Amino acid sequence: MINYGKQNILRPDINSVIKALKSNFLTQGPYVDIFQDKIKKYFGAKYCTVVSNGTAGLYIAGKALNWKKGDYIITTPITFVASANSIILSGAKPILVDIENEFYNLDPNKVEDKLKKTKKKIKAVVAVDYAGHPCDWEALRYLSSKFGFKLINDNCHAMGAKYKNKKNYAIKFADIVIHSYHPVKNFTTGEGGSLLTNDQKLNKKFLNLRNQSIIKNKKFDPWYYRISESGLNFRLSDLQCALGASQINHLDKFVKKRNEIASYYNLNFKNFDNLKLPLVRKDSYHAFHLYPLLINFKKIGIDKKVFFKKMMRKGINLQVHYIPLHYQPLIKKICNINKGDLPISENFYKKEVSIPIYPSLSLLNLKKAINAIKNTINKK
Ligand SMILES: Cc1ncc(COP(=O)(O)O)c(C=O)c1O
Repeated sequence: MINYGKQNILRPDINSVIKALKSNFLTQGPYVDIFQDKIKKYFGAKYCTVVSNGTAGLYIAGKALNWKKGDYIITTPITFVASANSIILSGAKPILVDIENEFYNLDPNKVEDKLKKTKKKIKAVVAVDYAGHPCDWEALRYLSSKFGFKLINDNCHAMGAKYKNKKNYAIKFADIVIHSYHPVKNFTTGEGGSLLTNDQKLNKKFLNLRNQSIIKNKKFDPWYYRISESGLNFRLSDLQCALGASQINHLDKFVKKRNEIASYYNLNFKNFDNLKLPLVRKDSYHAFHLYPLLINFKKIGIDKKVFFKKMMRKGINLQVHYIPLHYQPLIKKICNINKGDLPISENFYKKEVSIPIYPSLSLLNLKKAINAIKNTINKK
């Protein structure tokens, strides 16, 4: 079965984990700092706190920024449920703003319209570099300064991307950057994630929130610690950090391979009227965590569900990223949004299919996927 995404574990990664396994530390050992330092260096951030997954990162960000009941956070409908869940769990409410048609990211013009019209207290904007394509961060930063909200880059798809030709763009524009190192992402620690910031105070909060909000103070007694707010365990183990510290070395190579696969898809699908291929902004380098192919199922005369089943029978396991957040009963209820309110996202959902893209995808399997797609849409 050819999946839409897959990890790529190389020999040095295995060796790194073995080394950690043979050491004295399984959880908080030297690899935590080694991995954090490597992340800081690659992404140009002053501080990095690794956590158990990307969702934990989003949750901690909200806690550290003191989101609470009565606060509102703007985000995109085309994202994983984690973006909304972390907002809701903080007590705040999400406000969904539609995406732009070109790159499928949060539309800064619509964000500005919303900010001008609403009387609600907008504490933050969580924007997602969807599929690996950077948002219009310059516009979002301008709005953040103008309207005084915090800017979070949910960068889980875009590790290895460039904006304005810079791979350290994310923390240049956002106050907090969130990563996920889930196996389908651009590099992996199994489960894992991190928060990046240039703000020392914020990072201190991240570190506390990662570990039960414990504050140690050996001045009193060698064993002494105290808590003054509640926290949970969001630590990432030394084993996972050993994997991450080696995997991050391959990131550029992996993203290059993803771009080569995307170019091959572009070449093969460019003459099909009913397909829309992912675009790349002139100043950006796409990280191609996903290759979102938009298929006009209505024009082709095939149901999306039938297409999926036929592809599955041909050994290709596709995915959809994402069901718009407001189609989820919980979010529909909280946000009071109805079908039809976010037309670009809704139209996108009708057409979007995530087709296989990962560094170890062989040319043979890539061709197999292309032929399966072509044959299925031609024959219906
Ligand atoms: C855009 C986005 N945000 C957040 C997350 C959550 O990351 P994790 O699965 O590591 O909790 C994901 C993961 O799929 C994601 O794609």
